Amino acid sequence: MEKNTFYVTTPIYYPSNKLHIGNAYCTTAADAIARFKRLTGYDVMFLTGTDEHGQKIERIAREKGMEPIDYVDGIVASIKDLWKLMDISYDDFIRTTEPRHMQAVQKIFKRLYDQGDIYKSEYEGWYCSPCESFWLERQLVDGKCPDCGRPVERVKEESYFLRLSKYQDRLIEYINTHPDFIQPVSRRNEMLNNFLLPGLEDLAVSRTSFSWGIPVEFDPGHVVYVWLDALTNYITALGYLGEDDSKFKKYWPADVHLVGKEIVRFHTIIWPIVLMALGLPLPKQVYGHGWLILDGGEKMSKSKGNVIDPVVLVERYGLDAIRYFLLREMPLGSDGVFTNEILIKRINTDLANDLGNLVSRTVAMMEKYFDGSIPSVGPVTELDKDLQHLCMGTPQKVEELMDQWQLSAALGEIWKLVARCNKYIDETAPWALAKDEQQRERLATVMVHLVESIRTIGILISPFMTKTPAKIFQQIGIEEGHMTAWDTVRQFGVIPAGTKVKKGEALFPRLDMAKELEALDGITPGQAHIKGASQKKKEAARKQEAQRPEEPKKDGKITIDDFAKVEMKVANVLACEAVEGSEKLLKFTLKVGEEQRTVVSGIKKWYPEPEKLVGRQLILVANLKPAKLKGILSEGMLLSAEDASGNVRLLTVESPVEDGAGVS
Ligand code: MSP
Repeated sequence: MEKNTFYVTTPIYYPSNKLHIGNAYCTTAADAIARFKRLTGYDVMFLTGTDEHGQKIERIAREKGMEPIDYVDGIVASIKDLWKLMDISYDDFIRTTEPRHMQAVQKIFKRLYDQGDIYKSEYEGWYCSPCESFWLERQLVDGKCPDCGRPVERVKEESYFLRLSKYQDRLIEYINTHPDFIQPVSRRNEMLNNFLLPGLEDLAVSRTSFSWGIPVEFDPGHVVYVWLDALTNYITALGYLGEDDSKFKKYWPADVHLVGKEIVRFHTIIWPIVLMALGLPLPKQVYGHGWLILDGGEKMSKSKGNVIDPVVLVERYGLDAIRYFLLREMPLGSDGVFTNEILIKRINTDLANDLGNLVSRTVAMMEKYFDGSIPSVGPVTELDKDLQHLCMGTPQKVEELMDQWQLSAALGEIWKLVARCNKYIDETAPWALAKDEQQRERLATVMVHLVESIRTIGILISPFMTKTPAKIFQQIGIEEGHMTAWDTVRQFGVIPAGTKVKKGEALFPRLDMAKELEALDGITPGQAHIKGASQKKKEAARKQEAQRPEEPKKDGKITIDDFAKVEMKVANVLACEAVEGSEKLLKFTLKVGEEQRTVVSGIKKWYPEPEKLVGRQLILVANLKPAKLKGILSEGMLLSAEDASGNVRLLTVESPVEDGAGVS
């Protein structure tokens, strides 16, 4: 039977420098999605690559006294090494300097020119070379690039133009009738309100002032604008207008282009218009993910010199710790904060304590009580059924979340199962059962439930972590194949009695926080800078607090306009946990329509069992400025009521509504 196809892409990276952990985030997320789809039976095409032309690259190469191609060859090799280190399972890596790409771009340009969608004129305006973006005078902010804040340069040159204006209404209509096309929904609104509805100007799509680009075949003084060149990689890699376009026929349109939020604009305006002009279907979705930011709210970026090198972290903590951190800490649509402390905490709590201990305790007990040989299961109790139920229900939840690219929430579900297993050990106390010969059968049942659950966990984590599953399977004595396939993830009792477990090394050794922080201070160059930033931020926050206008008087009335400034929404609780090291705080992971948010709230005292809040619908103040609490970026506030005796209860809706619903 033919498999369903699935095509996922990352942006193609500028080889302007070594990549940092922020770049690695996007590619790791796409990799987890690709692995998940393969595991669940799809024929997957996962594309990444490098965007090698343009003024910026040419300048950097020249500054180094190198030919651009020699310069990019070196960096591209280091990017490929990084993806190898990070186990990125791409099916193709496209370089925009390859003939297969360059020839197709020339044909596309010619076709659009021949049909009148590209015409020749003169461009006069501003250009940001780091972003490779054209800007109108009115779009500049303080005379600088509105995207990156860097200086722009005046450009006046003969140029070919793409008729964006001709397709504007069709694109608006398309976006309005295809709600999934731009996700999350906040990005769709931004594109419509900030760019499309005010009206599109035709776009300059060739340059004459430098030569490092794809020459326009019929006018060799011009090179193709780097964004037009780059965006088409998604189809040239599939052989579009090439000798063999079978992959294009098979995989296009893409299921999802995963891109950083600052480049959604190129992917949802220029790219769809090019495709419309070529008479091709549009990608099913462009998903704009958030940024990995530093403590202090700053985006990590090469030009600011505040980047964290993923190689250093992977070498120190192992690949899976870093993959887990990236995918867990960053709900796809929102920003995620990187600090050494958050990283070490995640490793210690989720990986060393929760997952690592579960596996090592179970295997050690199996060796001690059953000589390492998995026994036969005896009669099951309600407690066992409860664990089985969670085990068999988790894959469904993971599948649903993964289909919305909610990787962090999917990991959250898996870790609920990990936590449940650890609790099950405490509840069943196998060490006590082992003391009583009459409880031998009960002990066997408990141990079988644990290894079976661990098998499920090993399968479930395999899209996210690439080394740990094999280590887990080895420790519980199962071969990769039928017993580790997604097809058997919903089955319980798969491992035959008599299978031999084998204790291995600790999956994630516990780290000494103080020691690690000290060590990292020296080797992750961004950190000194980050601390300064955070200090300044705190200072600024204190000042802001001191200057806050007085609260309105008790009898003061507000207008409906004042009230309308507060944007409130219904949010579903996906996960809720106590914030480590805090007596008051709970961390909520919320689903608000298409978006996922993290909110920290000081209500632990009134909700001592935070996991019970999962599934509840709460009211979120959605447009509150984000604030950091205990190192966690809180994106909003949950409404609650407090009575005279100080009892606090969260506000909810009277009966279920769709999450994301507005509250007024
Ligand atoms: N070459 C263009 C993309 C062309 S796609 C047809 C480009 N390259 S880039 O190297 O500057 O960025 C590649 C990706 O890395 C972007 O999606 C960008 O959002 C992402 N990131 C860069 N810094 C990041 C973080 N700090 N956090 C998360 N992603 C980040 O843009």
